[in-house]
Amino acid sequence: MSKVKIAPSLLAADFGNLQRDIELVNRSDADWHHIDIMDGVFVPNISYGMPVVEAIAKHATKPLDVHLMIVDPDRYIKTFADLGATNLTVHYEACTHLHRTIQAIKDAGMKAGVALNPHTNVNLLKNVIKDLDLVLIMSVNPGFGGQSFIENTYEKITDIKEIIKMTESKAIVEVDGGVSAKNAKALIKAGADVLVAGSFIFKSEDPEKTIKELKLATDRWSIFEL
Ligand code: DX5
Ligand code: ZN
Repeated sequence: MSKVKIAPSLLAADFGNLQRDIELVNRSDADWHHIDIMDGVFVPNISYGMPVVEAIAKHATKPLDVHLMIVDPDRYIKTFADLGATNLTVHYEACTHLHRTIQAIKDAGMKAGVALNPHTNVNLLKNVIKDLDLVLIMSVNPGFGGQSFIENTYEKITDIKEIIKMTESKAIVEVDGGVSAKNAKALIKAGADVLVAGSFIFKSEDPEKTIKELKLATDRWSIFEL
C-alpha cells in the first residue's frame, strides 16, 4: 500500500491569520492544501471566493486541492486553473454533463476529481471512473466544518475501490468530513488514499504537531500494519 496523503482543510484555519496558517501547512508534513469553495446555493453556507484563493496561492507551497461545492462549476474551471489549482473537484450532484466537465478540467491542465454526497451511490461513477484522477467521498453533508463523521463511509470507500480496481482506473480516493486520529486507521484500511482534516488539525493545541503525528501514524498503518 502506498503512503496516505494528508490535506488540511483551510476552512478551519484562523482567517484573521491566514498567511500564518498557510505557512504552518507549508512547514508541516502535510501533502496538500485543501480549499473549500461554497456558494450558498449548492450548500447552505458561503466560504470564500477568488480573491482569498489568490491570496492563499500566493503563500502556499504545496499543491492546491480545490473542492468546489457550487452549482454549475463549469463557469469557473478556467478561473481556478489560472489561480493555480492542482486538483479541481466538482460535485456529482451539481453537474448535468459530468463527462464534459471532467474533460474541461483536464483540458485546463488540472487533475479532475468528483465528490459524492453521503447519499450518492458510488456506482453512479462507473461510466466516468477511468477518466478520473480522484474521487472524493464526503463523510459529512457538505457545507460546514466540525460535523460528525458518517459511519457508512467505510462501505462506500470499499465499494469505490472495487470499481477502481475492476476498471483499472488510476483514480485515488479522498475522504472529507469528520476525519480524525480516531477513524483514520479504519479509513486507510477501507482504502482511503487522502485524508482531509479541518477541525481535528486547526482546533488542536499545536496543529503542526497534530499533522506530524497523523502523518507518522498513517505512514505506519499504510506501510506496515494493514
Ligand atoms: C465540508 C468541507 C470539509 C471541511 C472538513 O463541507 O468539504 O473540507 O472543511 O472539516 P472537518 O474536518 O472539520 O469536518
Ligand atoms: Zn472539502
